[in-house]
Amino acid sequence: MSSGTASRAGGFAGKQAVVTGAGSGIGAALCRALDAAGADVLCTDVDAVAAQRTAAALSPRARSARVDVTDAAAVQAAVDEVVERSGRLDLMFNNAGITWAADTELLTLEHWNAIIDVNIRGVVHGVAAAYPQMVRQGHGFLVNTASMAGLAAAGQITSYVMSKHAVVGLSLALRSEAAAHNIGVLAICPAAVETPILDKGLITGINGREFYRMGQRSSRFYDPDRLARDTLRAIRRNRAVLVAPRKAYPGWLLARYAPGLMQRMSIRFVARQRAAQRDAAAPSEGATR
Ligand SMILES: NC(=O)c1ccc[n+]([C@@H]2O[C@H](COP(=O)([O-])OP(=O)(O)OC[C@H]3O[C@@H](n4cnc5c(N)ncnc54)[C@H](O)[C@@H]3O)[C@@H](O)[C@H]2O)c1
Repeated sequence: MSSGTASRAGGFAGKQAVVTGAGSGIGAALCRALDAAGADVLCTDVDAVAAQRTAAALSPRARSARVDVTDAAAVQAAVDEVVERSGRLDLMFNNAGITWAADTELLTLEHWNAIIDVNIRGVVHGVAAAYPQMVRQGHGFLVNTASMAGLAAAGQITSYVMSKHAVVGLSLALRSEAAAHNIGVLAICPAAVETPILDKGLITGINGREFYRMGQRSSRFYDPDRLARDTLRAIRRNRAVLVAPRKAYPGWLLARYAPGLMQRMSIRFVARQRAAQRDAAAPSEGATR
């Protein structure tokens, strides 16, 4: 573990952190966990009001800013502001993300470009802004929010899977060269987490919660505050990848060691999803009379 990161310093107290997508869900939970651990957090989001709401619920150390991660200059300005105030940036959380759930033939180029811009370019902008500063100062930690979808593949969220595989690849490759600079890189790869994203990006008749419930065979989703605590623990341990919760392990291992079997299971999964979506869309007998 690097000297500038949490473990040798004994904790997160006084650490300077930027979180993107902090107005909701996992980003807001990361801000709460960091603030509770004593870090100074800049909560950023494209939704300025939501970012402000997150910061207002924290200690007076927390601040907020409107940052659209698709705007490289805005991400750079957020990093620069922290460095100008405190002389360093200890932790950068590239967390903002969107999703589309649909049969892929229904995605327009606008959909593809939006997910590339937010989920891939957004992380690239965070890395491009924070990493050179961390190299200059000789320490730091980057946390990129990927997903189990960055380690395994599921149809009907194909564009999302593409974007999260890119985030995992970027994180692991960068980690190998960042180590020499005393910089850690962590890709967090949670299964479905109880956040508003489960109800977003639904292009066709797909019910997001039902889609993810069928994927994990349970209607209980991972708690974002638990994920945030697990993430801080993974930073302390200088882990490369956080797969969580534990019930996600079998899917991860299967994708890794039995890709052919995983692919056959994925084909059956999409067929089951489509059948359930057709049933849900069909007007009931009672409704047609
Ligand atoms: N919830 C899950 O099941 C789950 C699982 C794995 C990974 N993730 C990932 O976690 C991250 C956070 O998602 P969440 O579940 O908290 O969703 P969420 O929708 O609750 O929060 C996402 C936040 O990102 C912000 N955002 C969207 N576009 C932005 C942009 N261009 N610039 C800045 N902010 C922007 C939104 O305003 C929102 O506040 C995403 O990267 C998502 O892909 C979520």
